[in-house]
Amino acid sequence: MLDRRQCFRRLVAIPAAAWAVSGLQAARAAGVVQELPQDGESYWNHMRWQFLIPEGQAYFNTGTLGASPRIVVDAVAEHLRYVEESLALWDFSADQPERLAGYRPEKDLRRKLADFVHCDLEEIGLTINATMAMNLVANGLDLQKGDEVLITDKEHPGGRCGWDVKQQRYGVVLKEVPIATDVSEPDEIVRQFEAAMTTRTKVLAVPHITSGQGIVLPVKKLCGLAKSRGVFSVIDGAQAVGQLHVNVRDLGCDAYFTSPHKWLLAPKGNGFLYVRREVQDRIWPTLASSQWNNHKDGMFRLQQYGTLNQSLLRGLEAAVDFMDRIGRDRVEERVRFLGDYLRRGLGRIPGVVLSTPVHPALAAGITTYGIKGVTGRQLQDELWNRKKIRVRASGNTGVRQSCHIYNSVAELDATLEVVKSVARA
Ligand SMILES: Cc1ncc(COP(=O)(O)O)c(C=O)c1O
Repeated sequence: MLDRRQCFRRLVAIPAAAWAVSGLQAARAAGVVQELPQDGESYWNHMRWQFLIPEGQAYFNTGTLGASPRIVVDAVAEHLRYVEESLALWDFSADQPERLAGYRPEKDLRRKLADFVHCDLEEIGLTINATMAMNLVANGLDLQKGDEVLITDKEHPGGRCGWDVKQQRYGVVLKEVPIATDVSEPDEIVRQFEAAMTTRTKVLAVPHITSGQGIVLPVKKLCGLAKSRGVFSVIDGAQAVGQLHVNVRDLGCDAYFTSPHKWLLAPKGNGFLYVRREVQDRIWPTLASSQWNNHKDGMFRLQQYGTLNQSLLRGLEAAVDFMDRIGRDRVEERVRFLGDYLRRGLGRIPGVVLSTPVHPALAAGITTYGIKGVTGRQLQDELWNRKKIRVRASGNTGVRQSCHIYNSVAELDATLEVVKSVARA
């Protein structure tokens, strides 16, 4: 086993790739985001050093897990220490529930999250991830045998399997609406769902952004369609919150959930669920503790799962603050810019097959692509071995590259260089 110091030496021993921004190591310890220079690429280059990923490595796997900035990691670590140092000072009497992790309503954090996605704090419940949130909705809704739930054929298991259980246990009918792999405009998807709806359709449950190809679905139109038919809409925003500026009210959905440990850059093991106030009573709690029947504080009722790691919540709070300081629109603009830049570059390389649509409304920061005759695993390894660029193999034929605020144009140019050279070989 390596001790921490050896591990650190080993990490820094990885040679810096050619695209690495030199001279910025010192800036890593720099202060808050507002103090960074505001001019274009150099602002984002400084941003890079708010993160702990060593110089010389380019991280493009936010679709799996986001990187947390130092300020978030510190918030978690400091709170963990505070908890352990002050345990004996706490009065655990029943009228002091605020000390008990998992039993407090966490109103300040829920308000912050509510502001972030544009709703009221009573409409936000904390979960440990998107999977838990979607199961709370699928399990909590009363549905009868023969009722239909419309999903896509591109669900992540975390967005789908709760409905599979519902199907097997209660005879609910799960209908997959296919999304063409070469979808070229958003209304195509809306028409597909419209055609699939029947009088038995009770729920529409779709991702905001698909996990594999990064297709941005026209969720506002889909929710409008659901509403016009009296169908409950629930959106899996695991890949969207922190990548796009999400406004749940504007989308018009009944429920929306996410995993902030991806694009919102929160510590791993955080999630939240929005349920519109007017439909909250339709959802039974799956996990119950003392406040399971407390309807005064909205979603606190669905947050009854006992003791949890409160330090992760302090990290989530710090992550929301961090993203807010940069600005949700500015983040989305940057993510879209990088995604478009990559797709344009890939489109010019002979032999490259893009699986993510190029229509600007159907794509954002995730790009999935491959090279004819090269497996996803091979391309993933070439990118890492040649330039220390971390993408994720996606199926047999391609890789998924997720662009976030810690990525740069220089890293994308390096990516294109490797892809060009592999495609030529
Ligand atoms: C669209 C989508 N939904 C749900 C999930 C599950 O997320 P988690 O494992 O954080 O619950 C993922 C994870 O990649 C995802 O991409």
